[in-house]
Amino acid sequence: DQIEKGGYDHFMLKEIHEQPKAIIDTYRGRMLPDEGIIRMSGIDNHMNKFLNAERIIIVACGTSWHAGLVGEYLIEDKARIPVEVEYASEFRYRNPIITSKDVVIAISQSGETADTLAAIKLAKSKGAFVFGICNVVGSSIARETDAGAYTHAGPEIGVASTKAFTTQITVLTLIALKLASKKGEISKSELRTFLQKMQLIPKKVEDLLKIDEKVKEIAAVYKDAPNCLYLGRGFNFPVALEGALKLKEISYIHAEGYPAAEMKHGPIALIDENMPIFVIATNKGHYEKVVSNIQEIKSRAGKIIAIVTEGDTQVKDIADHVIEIPETEEALTPLLTTIPFQLLSYHIAVMLNKNVDQPRNLAKSVTVE
Ligand code: G6P
Repeated sequence: DQIEKGGYDHFMLKEIHEQPKAIIDTYRGRMLPDEGIIRMSGIDNHMNKFLNAERIIIVACGTSWHAGLVGEYLIEDKARIPVEVEYASEFRYRNPIITSKDVVIAISQSGETADTLAAIKLAKSKGAFVFGICNVVGSSIARETDAGAYTHAGPEIGVASTKAFTTQITVLTLIALKLASKKGEISKSELRTFLQKMQLIPKKVEDLLKIDEKVKEIAAVYKDAPNCLYLGRGFNFPVALEGALKLKEISYIHAEGYPAAEMKHGPIALIDENMPIFVIATNKGHYEKVVSNIQEIKSRAGKIIAIVTEGDTQVKDIADHVIEIPETEEALTPLLTTIPFQLLSYHIAVMLNKNVDQPRNLAKSVTVE
């Protein structure tokens, strides 16, 4: 067991640290940044299905569903194809409208989640083309889909998903860009620039992992909070959801993720001096809006832990704690902003003496409906 954990105390921590390599393994051979080329046989061989799709429906559960939401933002923003993201369990039971003009993308780390598998079978029976993004080679979902792309994260043992999430986002980013370039939505030189930035992500993740001590200090301050709120917008809204999920899964602290601007429609009522609020404020597009959300929290005495871009000064002045992430393309920030949240949940769970790798009541793969 100790050998398998590679010197780390838990599989989760090992898997968090494996992310730079896992991301490289996932894009290796699939992108040639300097040439501005993306090659993915599962997409290339079925390009017409994607180009003629009236919409893409992403189905998944849990963390994979959060990756799917990032995928929606990516594919709509870059490739301009309408995308819907569905919980597999809801999709399959609500008599959904599916036709042969739909492309369904199923995302699953294990490739064995019963609801996702059933959603695929339903979509296929209605004539949709089904594409899988799985981590486990030869899994049921990988076999059931018409085509697919594996994430190459390697085995994920910790129940709380970490490297599966970032590698799923890596694949979805490649898909979005491939479709965008094929549709002429981005130029060759834009693609080249984007891929060159993507190639820098693993090193940036590696640098970010060095903030472990700082995250540990923040964890020590907030480990006894009964509730936490996570806010983000745009590409980082799903990261807020995933941050909250990570915390509740392994530390059993109640946490909610919310789009930052929705705060005023409910969660703001919860804010007082006992409420830690984790805010992702890296967005360039809506930066001022997020800053004003942070000010609203401040004026209600909430504790603010902000994720900002390196060099930020505005948020730094208001927040109680700031964690800096390296500068990158906005669409790539989820691969970075998610890292501090993983570390934070990990440290809080360890400090609270919880079973990090096998939290109560949860299973790595849910093969029952
Ligand atoms: C379980 C796991 C989660 C995972 C979800 C979906 O709930 O505990 O970590 O995100 O299933 O699993 P999948 O293998 O389909 O990605």
